[in-house]
Amino acid sequence: MRIDVVTIFPSYFTPLGESLIGRAITEGRLAVGIHDLRQWTDDPHRTVDDAPYGGGPGMLMTPVPWGRALDETLLLRPPPAAGSVLVIPTPSGRRFTQGDAENLVSTGHVVIACGRYEGIDARVAEHYRARAEATAGAEHPEAARLRVAEVSLCDAVLAGGEVAALAIIEAAARLLPGVLGNADSPREDSFGPVWDGLVEGPSYTRPEQWRGLTVPAVLRSGDHGAITRWRRAQAQARTRIMRPDLLRTAPGDDPGEPGAQAP
Ligand code: ADE
Repeated sequence: MRIDVVTIFPSYFTPLGESLIGRAITEGRLAVGIHDLRQWTDDPHRTVDDAPYGGGPGMLMTPVPWGRALDETLLLRPPPAAGSVLVIPTPSGRRFTQGDAENLVSTGHVVIACGRYEGIDARVAEHYRARAEATAGAEHPEAARLRVAEVSLCDAVLAGGEVAALAIIEAAARLLPGVLGNADSPREDSFGPVWDGLVEGPSYTRPEQWRGLTVPAVLRSGDHGAITRWRRAQAQARTRIMRPDLLRTAPGDDPGEPGAQAP
C-alpha cells in the first residue's frame, strides 16, 4: 500500500517513523510520501492562500497549487493498486469509520490533501469528484479508478487536516497484513465483526485486586461460553451508554457503503 500526503507542514509526519507504522515502512509493507504543497507554487512568497469570495473570517487555500499537487501525486499509484482514493479531511465531511480504513487498504493507493486555514477552495473536491465519476464509468476495467472521500475525524474543529491524516494513516496501516502481531486482532477491535460493529466492553489484566477493585469473577472462571456471553452483554451496555448512535443502525439498514462518496 502507498500513501501520499500533501501538506504545508511536512514535519508533522515525522512520528510515522515510530512503532508499528515505522516498522511497516521499514519492512516494505507500506510506502509513505510526504509532499510540501509549496513546491507547486510559482510566486516568490510561495503563496497557498487567499481571502474568501463573499467575505468571512480567515483565508482559504487557493486551488491552483492543489490542482498541480494532486495531479502529480495521484500518478504515484503503485502498480498493483487498481485505483486511488483522494482523502480530504474536513470537519464538514462524512464521519471516518473503520469501514473506510478497510476500504483504503483494499484500494492500495491513498492521497491525503491536508487543508489549513479555513479549508481548501471547494472546486478542488468538485473537480476530482467529477474525475472520479468519469473513471467509475470507464469502459476498460483496467482503467485506474479514483474515489474522493471528504471525511471528518471528529465533531470538533482541528487546526488543519494533518492530525486527521495521521489518524487515518494509522487506522489503515494497522490493518495491513503482517503489521499487527496477531492477524485476528482487528476482528476483535471495537467496530469489528466480533462485536457486530459495536464498541468493545471493559478489559482487565493482572493484578486480580487493585485499589479495592476486583477483576469480574466470570473472566477468571475459565468458562469460555460464559465469558463470551458476558463480553457481548458488556459491549451492548457500553455502546448504549457511550455510542447510542451505533445502535440506531439496525442490521439490515444500509447506512451507505463505507468509503462511498458523500452526496
Ligand atoms: N480539519 C479540521 N477539523 C477537522 C476534523 N474534525 N476532521 C478532519 N479534518 C479536519
